[in-house]
Amino acid sequence: MDIGSTKPWNILIYAILILECVGQGRTARELAGEGDIQTAYHHGMDAHRHDRCKEMTHRHMHDHGPSTSSSSSEFDPSLNIFFKVEDVKPGNVISLYFPIKDPFTTPNILPREEVESIPFSSSQLPYLLKFFQFPLHSPQANAMEETLRHCEFSPIQGETKFCATSLESMLDNLRAIFGSDVGLKVLATTHPENTTTPFQNYTVLSSRRAGIPRMFGCHPMPYPYGVFYCHGQEGDTELHLITLRSEEGNRITEAVGVCHMNTSYWDPHHAAFKVLGIEPGSAPVCHVFPSDNLVWVPSSPLSIN
Ligand SMILES: *[C@@H]1O[C@H](CO)[C@@H](O)[C@H](O)[C@H]1NC(C)=O
Ligand SMILES: *[C@@H]1O[C@H](CO)[C@@H](O)[C@H](O)[C@H]1NC(C)=O
Ligand SMILES: *[C@@H]1O[C@H](CO)[C@@H](O)[C@H](O)[C@H]1NC(C)=O
Repeated sequence: MDIGSTKPWNILIYAILILECVGQGRTARELAGEGDIQTAYHHGMDAHRHDRCKEMTHRHMHDHGPSTSSSSSEFDPSLNIFFKVEDVKPGNVISLYFPIKDPFTTPNILPREEVESIPFSSSQLPYLLKFFQFPLHSPQANAMEETLRHCEFSPIQGETKFCATSLESMLDNLRAIFGSDVGLKVLATTHPENTTTPFQNYTVLSSRRAGIPRMFGCHPMPYPYGVFYCHGQEGDTELHLITLRSEEGNRITEAVGVCHMNTSYWDPHHAAFKVLGIEPGSAPVCHVFPSDNLVWVPSSPLSIN
């Protein structure tokens, strides 16, 4: 595959394909494991093309890494991914933002052999811009630079992070972290595919939670090919599987959420504190994952109440 010759970025219907591979269960998608991911990936080789630079850059701000932007307006509806633990009681109505899944906006995930020959370092940015034919300071160039820097930041206290430029490297990294003897399960939010309103009120139908000693969220990053920023926090996270009914259309979203129980070491300017109106460390901060994120947890013992 020639990934250097055209400006529109290769994309694939990644999340949708994963869904098709495993069908839609009663709860948030639980993919059986690597096999499903690989199948999804291989099906996705007939990619459509699109430029998702802007959208991805925007979404990128939601990460809770050390450099999270504090300049975003608290009125930006897309920041409504955060919730408080007590918000997800059955019967409660909660406003949440789930980005509309555009089948043309996920960059193509490449096999490891293909990406290994391409440097992945901000020190190589001038070379990379030439390689992908993006003019300096173009939106694509800026997004690439931002992604590379984000991948190079040191983790915050208690955090483990890595960027994966292929699924193979994602799994290798996860195995090294969890131990090769630990079975892994991957979860993702299922959101009705043709919703037209990203920001809606939802009624909580049910919520199950489990303390997870270790979990990793992998977020797609803006880049000419598929790059995931994966990070996990030791000890202080709780996994939530939340069934939501939209007020518009009466449709069901099975959301995967995570609660960070101790936020005392977070950047005090983190958008979550503004959205929830709380101080760092005063209460857990929870957020839902968009449907194109992959959430990795040990498969056993995973007892969710
Ligand atoms: C998508 O929306 C259309 C009309 O809005 C509806 O007819 C169709 O059944 C929906 N598709 C799915 C998969 O729900
Ligand atoms: C949710 O419901 C409240 C109360 O009815 C309303 O004020 C608010 O605008 C709604 N939010 C969304 C995103 O529809
Ligand atoms: C939260 O983390 C801070 C900094 O690591 C630590 O000092 C504090 O004891 C923790 N609080 C709780 C309730 O665990």
